[in-house]
Amino acid sequence: MADRTLSFSIFRYSPNIPGDKPKMQDYELQEMPHMTLYMALNKIREEQDATLQFDFVCRAGICGSCGMMVNGKIKLACKTMTKDLKKKITLMPLPTFKLIGDLSVDTGTFFMEMNKKTESWVHTSKKFNPDIEERMDNDSASKIYEADRCIECGCCIAVCETVNIHPEFQGAATINRVARFILDQRDERSPQQYFEVIGNEEGTFGCVGLMACDDFCPQEIPLQLQLAFVRRKMLKAGLGFKNL
Ligand code: SF4
Ligand code: FES
Repeated sequence: MADRTLSFSIFRYSPNIPGDKPKMQDYELQEMPHMTLYMALNKIREEQDATLQFDFVCRAGICGSCGMMVNGKIKLACKTMTKDLKKKITLMPLPTFKLIGDLSVDTGTFFMEMNKKTESWVHTSKKFNPDIEERMDNDSASKIYEADRCIECGCCIAVCETVNIHPEFQGAATINRVARFILDQRDERSPQQYFEVIGNEEGTFGCVGLMACDDFCPQEIPLQLQLAFVRRKMLKAGLGFKNL
């Protein structure tokens, strides 16, 4: 497989360059053993076209920067091996997010707003004591860890048809974040406080259950289970239950 010549067709457009128009540009590259898509793009940029824009930070599936459409499917470039793709590879930027240029999109604004909206920190009246480690039972800790594995890549937002039809819908990443804090017994927010954030058509009741988020999350977070969990809690909150 490693002696293939890969043919790339890559979306090119920089909205900030006056007069630039969207187009596909072709490149050829000799495949190397253990080559990821990120490595291939880097090689193209270093050896053939220094103007090619794409995002990366960690190169290890951690930072969530390198989401893109690979032959029509949403993937992280640094976690995608070229050997698993046909030799003709079409790359497009993640849809839904604002295009910065070529394969680079602005996911940061969405996640900054999401973190503000969900107030992504533990709300507690307890004073922090650095000398005492507060114990948590293993089951709670592992459920919180499951939700906390989100790398804010935006793949679940880009792939979501509900977001495409209804841009105000906050998407699976937001619902997953709320689940993370509902699960955390240290968080003292009331059911009604969560309900105000997510108990509406833009939140947990807006999802029509197409499940693409679940299929394309590179972290394999069970997003539909998280949605069902938060939805049940928000139903109780909507009915006036004092405890979730
Ligand atoms: Fe990415 Fe999954 Fe987090 Fe969505 S839930 S932003 S797909 S890691
Ligand atoms: Fe960080 Fe791909 S470069 S997730």
